[in-house]
Amino acid sequence: MEENATETTPIPTMSSNTAAETILVGFDWGTNSSCIMASTTGSNDLLTNEIIPSIVGYAKEGLLEGILPSDKTVLFGKEALKYRIYCQLQRPMRNGVIDDLKSASDYAGHIKEHLPEGREYRAVIGVPARADQIARENVRTAVKGVFDKVILIPEPFLAALGYRDESRLKEDGYIDPVNNSLFIDIGAGSSDLCLVQGYYPQPDDQISIPYAGDAVDAELSKEILQKYPDSDLSIHSVIEIKEEHAYMGPQKSDIIVKKIIGGKPRTLDIGYEIGQSTLTLLDLIFEGVKQEIAKANPDSVPELLQNIVLTGGGSQIKNFAEVLQKMLEDDGYEQPKVRIIGENYKEFVAKGAMKAARAAKERQWQTLID
Ligand SMILES: Nc1ncnc2c1ncn2[C@@H]1O[C@H](COP(=O)(O)OP(=O)(O)OP(=O)(O)O)[C@@H](O)[C@H]1O
Ligand SMILES: [Mg+2]
Repeated sequence: MEENATETTPIPTMSSNTAAETILVGFDWGTNSSCIMASTTGSNDLLTNEIIPSIVGYAKEGLLEGILPSDKTVLFGKEALKYRIYCQLQRPMRNGVIDDLKSASDYAGHIKEHLPEGREYRAVIGVPARADQIARENVRTAVKGVFDKVILIPEPFLAALGYRDESRLKEDGYIDPVNNSLFIDIGAGSSDLCLVQGYYPQPDDQISIPYAGDAVDAELSKEILQKYPDSDLSIHSVIEIKEEHAYMGPQKSDIIVKKIIGGKPRTLDIGYEIGQSTLTLLDLIFEGVKQEIAKANPDSVPELLQNIVLTGGGSQIKNFAEVLQKMLEDDGYEQPKVRIIGENYKEFVAKGAMKAARAAKERQWQTLID
C-alpha cells in the first residue's frame, strides 16, 4: 500500500531507482485546473509543463460537420471552454476529489497525449489532505490504463516540497518549508491545511475543508443578486469579478464593475458585496490554522508561526496574508508570519510531485493492473 510507504518515509533525497526509459509524471489534479509535468528518469529537464483546465466537453448530438475542430466528439481544457456552446461540459472533480469517473478517465487519457509514446509511465498524483479511501480508489481507477504505477501524496505537502529551494538549504537564514511549516492550499473545491514537519504528513496533521473558491463564487453570486435582482450574471462573469477584485479586510466601497447584462452595459457598485463573499472562507481558514497550531509539538510552534504559507488560487485574494496574520496576532500568537507562495502558485504541487517521483523508492510505487 503506498499510503503506508509514504507515511513512514522520511523526506526524499534526490535519487531514483526507476528504469531509464520510464517517464515520470507530476500531476496536480485540481478541481478547477490541473498542472502536469513530466521528465524521463535521471533527467532534470521537463518534457511537459502544462496547466490544463479540468474540464471535458462532450459534443452535443446533431452538430453539423465543421463546427468542432476535426469534428471531435470529446474536447478538453481550453478547447472545451472555447466551444462550450456546442458541448455538454463536465467537470471531473468536485471539492477536490473525483466526482465523475467517466470524464475523469477521459481527462487522464488526454493528459497522456502530451507525453512521448510507448514507455512506462509513473505518476505522483496530488490528493487533498485527508482524501479518504474512496477518493483515492477513484483516482487509481481513473488513471488505470493511463499510468502504470502511481503514488498518491497530499497536495499541501507536495506544495511545500515544490516550494523548497534545495540550492539554498545550506544558506544561513533560509527557512526550509519542508522542515517546519503550515501550508494552506486554497483551491476551487477544497481548502487543505497541512503541518509539514520533516516527514510525510499523517492524516492527523491535515485538515481538509470542502469550502474554497467555488463556494466564494456562489456567495458572490448571491450577494450581487441580492443587490441587483435583475442582474443575471453568468458564473463565468462572477468568477472574473472575483479574480480581479476579491479582497479580505476593511470594507471597500469603491469597486465599480462594468458588465454587459442582457446585451446592455450596466455598472455595478459592489465593493461591499465582494467583501462579504470572502468572510466565511477567512473564518474557516482562521479556525483551521488555530487547530493545526494546537496539534503541533509545542516546541515547534515558535518556528512554525514564522512559516505559514498560503497557496492555491485562493491565496491570490488581496490582503489575505496580512489579514490572517493580524487575526493571529490579535488572538495572542507570538509574531506570526503569513506569506503567499506567489503568483505562480499553480506549479508548486506538480513540481513537488516531480521531486517525489524522482526520489521514490521502487517499493513505494503502486502498480495499477487493468
Ligand atoms: N486572483 C484571484 N483572486 C481570487 N481567487 C482566485 C484568483 N485567481 C484564482 N482564483 C480562484 O482560485 C481557484 C482555483 O485555484 P486552484 O487552481 O489552486 O484550484 P484547483 O487546484 O483547481 O482546485 P482544488 O485544489 O480545490 O482541487 C478558483 O476558484 C479561482 O477562481
Ligand atoms: Mg489544487
